[in-house]
This record gives sequence, structure tokens and C-alpha cells, in this order.
Amino acid sequence: MTDRELMELAQSARGYSYSPYSHFRVGAALLTKSGKVYTGCNIENAGYSPTNCAERTAIFKAVSEGERDFETIAIVGGREGETNDFTAPCGVCRQVIAEFCGGDFKILLGRPGSFRAYTLKELLPFTFTAQDL
Ligand code: THU
Repeated sequence: MTDRELMELAQSARGYSYSPYSHFRVGAALLTKSGKVYTGCNIENAGYSPTNCAERTAIFKAVSEGERDFETIAIVGGREGETNDFTAPCGVCRQVIAEFCGGDFKILLGRPGSFRAYTLKELLPFTFTAQDL
């Protein structure tokens, strides 16, 4: 699975986004170390706070099926009907990623025609984890 292929899977997952309130559609594709891919989209709610981001949807799907070792996540987001720019994961999603992934975990942010690669430690330095408890 190449980074580009993972980005394409994130893009198709974005098609399932349920975002009638923000109209901001996000898709994610999470690659496990064993080579499986779990996709996710954002799922909004009339109560607003129950909304789940695309990244967490993908991670929770994977963890709920016994996967805990992850290599890369690809993320694509943007307002409905507009050309999307890079969408970085929110702070809550970064913290959820940190629960399962080390600093070298790769985070790919995509927009039409290109993507950028970051590591978790770049996007979430000075992390609070189980080792701090
Ligand atoms: N959202 C995500 O799914 N992932 C992100 O990284 C940023 C935000 C969603 C949550 C909400 O449904 C919408 O985008 C606007 O915040």
C-alpha cells in the first residue's frame, strides 16, 4: 500500500461523510502494520458534541477489531463543494492517535493533486501518554 493509494482511500471514505451541520467533509484511511486499511468519515450529530471525526472513526473501527499497531493515517477534508486544502487532525484526534502510536507514526494530509507527510511528534510534541501516569 503506497502513501498515494492510502490517500485515495481517504478520499473515497470522505464520500460517506455525514456532515449536515458543518458541511465540512472529512475522510481518513488508517494503515495497520499488518497491512490492513480501516477507513472513516466524520459523523455529525444534532447535539453537536457527539460528533466523531473521521480519524477517530477509523481508529475506533480498527481497535474494535483487535488492531493496535498502526503505520500511517491519510486525511482529506474540506468544505462541501469547494476545492479542499490540507486539513490537520484536531487536538482530540491527535491525543487518540498518541494512545496507540509512537512519535514516528506517519500522518498524511492531502489536497487535490498533492499531499504532505508529518510525524505524530511533529504534530503533537510534549505528549501526555500512559508513561506519564
Ligand atoms: N473534523 C474531522 O473529521 N477531522 C478533523 O481533523 C477536523 C474536523 C470534522 C468534525 C466536524 O464534523 C467537521 O469536521 C467540522 O469541524
